[in-house]
Amino acid sequence: MGDLVQLTKTDGIAVMTIDNPPVNALSPGVPEGIAEAIDQINADAAVLAAVLIGAGRTFVSGADIKEFAKLRSGGARGTMDFPSVLGRIENCRKPVVMAIHGNALGGGLELAMAGHYRVAVASAQVGQPEVKLGIIPGAHGTQRLPRLAGVAKAVAMCAEGNLIPAAEALKFNIIDRIIEGDLLAGAVAFARAIAGKPAPKTSERNEKLGTAEENAPILAAARDAARKKQRGMMAPLAAIEAVEAATKLPFEEGCRLERKLFMECLASDQSKALIHVFFAEREAAKIPDVPRETPAIPVARAAVVGAGTMGGGIAMVFANAGIPVLLKEADQAALDRGLENIRKNYAGSVARGRFTQQFVDERLSMIRPTLGYEGFAQADIIVEAVFEGMELKKQVFAELDRAAKPGAILASNTSTLNIDEIASATSRPEFVLGTHFFSPANVTRLLEIVRGRATTKSVIATAMQLSKKLGKVGVLVGNCRGFVGNRMFHHYVRESVFVVEEGASVEAVDKALYDFGMAMGPLAVGDLAGLDVGWRIRKEYRHLEKPGVRHPIAGDRLCEMGRFGQKTGAGWYKYDEKRQATPDPEVAVLVRKWAAEAHIRQRAIGAEEIVERCVYALVNEGARVLEEGYALRAGDIDVIYLNGYGFPAYRGGPMWYADTVGLKKVYDRVRAFEAELGEIWTPAPLLKHLAETGGTFSEYTPGRNAIA
Ligand code: 3HC
Ligand code: NAI
Repeated sequence: MGDLVQLTKTDGIAVMTIDNPPVNALSPGVPEGIAEAIDQINADAAVLAAVLIGAGRTFVSGADIKEFAKLRSGGARGTMDFPSVLGRIENCRKPVVMAIHGNALGGGLELAMAGHYRVAVASAQVGQPEVKLGIIPGAHGTQRLPRLAGVAKAVAMCAEGNLIPAAEALKFNIIDRIIEGDLLAGAVAFARAIAGKPAPKTSERNEKLGTAEENAPILAAARDAARKKQRGMMAPLAAIEAVEAATKLPFEEGCRLERKLFMECLASDQSKALIHVFFAEREAAKIPDVPRETPAIPVARAAVVGAGTMGGGIAMVFANAGIPVLLKEADQAALDRGLENIRKNYAGSVARGRFTQQFVDERLSMIRPTLGYEGFAQADIIVEAVFEGMELKKQVFAELDRAAKPGAILASNTSTLNIDEIASATSRPEFVLGTHFFSPANVTRLLEIVRGRATTKSVIATAMQLSKKLGKVGVLVGNCRGFVGNRMFHHYVRESVFVVEEGASVEAVDKALYDFGMAMGPLAVGDLAGLDVGWRIRKEYRHLEKPGVRHPIAGDRLCEMGRFGQKTGAGWYKYDEKRQATPDPEVAVLVRKWAAEAHIRQRAIGAEEIVERCVYALVNEGARVLEEGYALRAGDIDVIYLNGYGFPAYRGGPMWYADTVGLKKVYDRVRAFEAELGEIWTPAPLLKHLAETGGTFSEYTPGRNAIA
C-alpha cells in the first residue's frame, strides 16, 4: 500500500488513513494505496465496514495540482487512474464511511462522494473549487454531487467553486452526520451501526436529479451568472454543461462527457494561467533570504496615523482581523469625518449582508480614535497614512520614533516616496518598511511590502505573515518610485491616453481593455481614482521630463478644466448624481483639437492595437522591474496585478500573459512602437535578451541582488 495509505483493522472495522502531508493531495501512490486497501477489505471476511480518514490537518484537498502538467502532456503519472478507484470504492462489498476534517476539496470531495456515507466535524468544509484553476471536477464530481445535493446546489458549487461549511453540507445531504468530539471514534461508531445493512451507492441515487422543466431555469440562471461574474472564463460554463449531463445521461455516459470537458479545460491557456496563479500566490510568500523560521514579532495591537481614505480603511483591516487599533488624526473635525466614513462603510456591508450588525459593533469597538500619541507605546505596528509629502512623513516618523516602544514596526503607506529617506527621520530604520495598501484598503487584497535598505529580516517576516492574517496577499517589493504596481501602471495609463490622442475614442479604449478582461478600462479607473492625483504627481516631476519625449497631454488638460473625474461630475466621461457614466462628445472634440495643436496625427486604431499598446507597456516596464531586482520573480508581478489592478486571473498576470503570447512577438511589437514613438518604448534589455534566447519571464531568476 506504500507509505501514503495505511490500513488497520480493529473489531471488524477497517480504517484507511491517507497520509500525504501537507494536504493529503491525491499524488501518485494515493489512489493505488486506496485501491489496494479496498481489495484487502473485500477479501477479509472479518471486516464488516470501513472508514477512510486523513492524517494531519485535513481530509483530502484534491488532486495533486503539480501533477497536472504531466497529465496534460499525457506523460507518466501514477499507475492507477483515480476515477476508476472511485468505482472500486463504491462497489466495495463492505460499506465505506468517509470521515472528514479540515476540508474535502475537488478530488477530495469526489473521493468522499464515492463512499457510502460521509461524516464530518463541524469545522470541516467541502467544495468543488476546480473552476478556480480553470478546470472542472474530473473524477465524477459533476455527476455525483447533483445526486446528493440536487441540481441547483451542485451547479452553484461546481460553477462558482466556493466552499461550504459542514452544517450546510449536512443540510444539502452531502454529508450524513456531524460528529461531535473525536472524529475517528465517531466515524468508527457510525460504521459499526451501519455494518451489514444495504449501502447506498451515490451513482445510483437519481431521485434528486429533477425533471427537464425544473432544471432548465436553474441551468439558464447559472449560465447567466457565470457569464457576468466569471466573465471570459470557460471552465464555469463547462462545469454547468457537465452537471446538465448528469440530469440527462446515465451515470457512466455523464462521467465520459465530464472527462472530455475536464481534459479540454486542462489543455486550455486559461487553466495553465490559473494554475500558475495558484502557485505564484504561494511562492510570493517565500523570501529567499528570510526563511520560514525567521522569528516574527507578535502583533497584538496596532495604530494608524491619518484617518483619511486609506487610514480609515487600514484601521478597518486590523479591526476585521481582531486586532485592536488606535486611529490618530490631526484635528477633531478630520477625526470625526474619518470615523463617519468608517461607520458608513460598515453600514453598507451590513446592508449588503456581508457582515452582521453584531460583527460590525465589535469591530467598531476595536477602533479607538485619538488626537495624540497616548497608547501608541503599546502598539506592535504603526501604519502611517497621512498626506503624501516627504516633509510631513518625516515629521510624523520622528514623532513615532519618540512615541513607539522599542521593537515596534513603523510602516508607511506612501505610494511614491522613498522609504529609506522616511526611515532616516527615526533612530531605528531597521524597524521601518512600507506597507502599501490599495484603495479601498478594506477590500483590495494586494499589499505591497516595501523593503528598505535597513529593514531587518524579522520585520519583513512579520509583515509577510501579518498580511495573511489580515486577509491580504503580501508581495515583497523594492524601494523604487511607484514601487512595482504603480511604476508599471504609469506606463499603462500613459499609453491609454496616447491612443486616445491618436484617435481612438475614450469608450473604445476602455471597451478594448474590458473585453481583454480587465475589471475596468483605464480611463474609467482614472475617473474613479481622480484624474487630479496623477496630474499633481506629473506637475511635481515635470522637471524630470526629457525634452523631445512625448508625454500625455489630454488628462492634464481635462484637469485644467476642473474635470477631475467622478468627484467633479466629469472627467473622461460625464457622471450623473448617482455617478453613472455616459460618454461625453465634448471630450472627443477637445481631444481632437489638442492633438492637432500638438501635431499628433489621428487615425483609426483597432481593439487589438489598443490592448497591445497598453498591456505591452506594462510588460516592458515589468521586465525592467524584474531585471533591476525590485521584484523577486515574474510571478510576484503577476500576483500584484491580479490582486491590485483587476488584471484577469485567467490570463495569469501581465508577465505570464507575455510568455503565453511569446516574448519574440511581444519584443517585435515593442520595437515597432519604439520606431514610432521613441525612447519611451525602448525594449527593456531583459525582454530583448529573453526574446532572442527563447526564454520566458516565468523561468527567469533575478540576480542575487534582487531587493537587496
Ligand atoms: N496539490 C498540490 N499541492 C497543494 C494542493 C494540491 N491540491 N493544495 C495545497 N497544496 C500545497 C500548496 O502549494 C502549499 O505548498 P507550499 O507549502 O510548498 O507552498 C501547501 O500545500 C499548503 O497550502 P496553502 O499554503 O495554500 O495552505 P492553506 O492552509 O492556506 O490552504 C488549502 C490549504 C485550502 C487546501 C489550499 O491550499 C487550497 O485551496 N488548495 C487547492 C485546493 C484545490 O483547488 N483542490 C482541487 C484540485 S483540482 C482537483 O482536485 C481535480 C479533480 O477534480 C480531479
Ligand atoms: P487623505 O488625504 O484621504 O488622508 C490623509 C489624512 O491624514 C487626512 O485626514 C489628514 O487630516 C491626516 N493627517 C495629516 N497630517 C496628520 C498628522 N500629523 N497626524 C494625523 N493625521 C494627519 O489621503 P489618503 O488618500 O488616505 O492617502 C494617505 C497616504 O496613502 C498617502 O501617502 C498616499 O500616497 C497613500 N496612498 C493613497 C492611495 C489612494 O488611493 N488614496 C492608495 C495607496 C496609497
